[in-house]
Amino acid sequence: AIERTLSIIKPDAVAKNVIGQIYARFEAAGLKVVAAKLAYLSEREAGEFYAVHKERPFFKDLVSFMTSGPVMIQALEGEGAILKNRDLMGATDPKKAAPGTIRADFAESIDANAVHGSDAAETAAVEIAFFFPGMNVYSR
Ligand code: CMP
Repeated sequence: AIERTLSIIKPDAVAKNVIGQIYARFEAAGLKVVAAKLAYLSEREAGEFYAVHKERPFFKDLVSFMTSGPVMIQALEGEGAILKNRDLMGATDPKKAAPGTIRADFAESIDANAVHGSDAAETAAVEIAFFFPGMNVYSR
């Protein structure tokens, strides 16, 4: 089925100037950018976005990293977009990410891991609405 997923190019990858290289991978895999913005998240926004991780030991470091520089946020659309994007990203920990994945090629650590992608249809809908409320998604 045609799905949408929320993708974030994190501060480490934006700082490395590889937004275009990551977009090229989305496009080559048949994922279309249907909404996008470069943003500098506040602590409040990052904390709200990652609220599901609030009780995890890494929450504070996660919020501090995600607010350390600008991020590129996009909604991607395509056949099986959620799983497709997760395959492109590779494992959360870049040391465990398969060769040729975004995290294997561009990430340094589990915190600075280059990209975020929604993990399921329900979270994708919530995450897209969080960053692109209203009608700011353009499918064609
Ligand atoms: P992301 O997909 O953005 O979702 C939550 C983030 O928390 C994750 O990527 C990692 O960058 C970060 N993180 C740090 N430590 C861990 C951990 N032990 N398990 C999962 N995520 C972690």
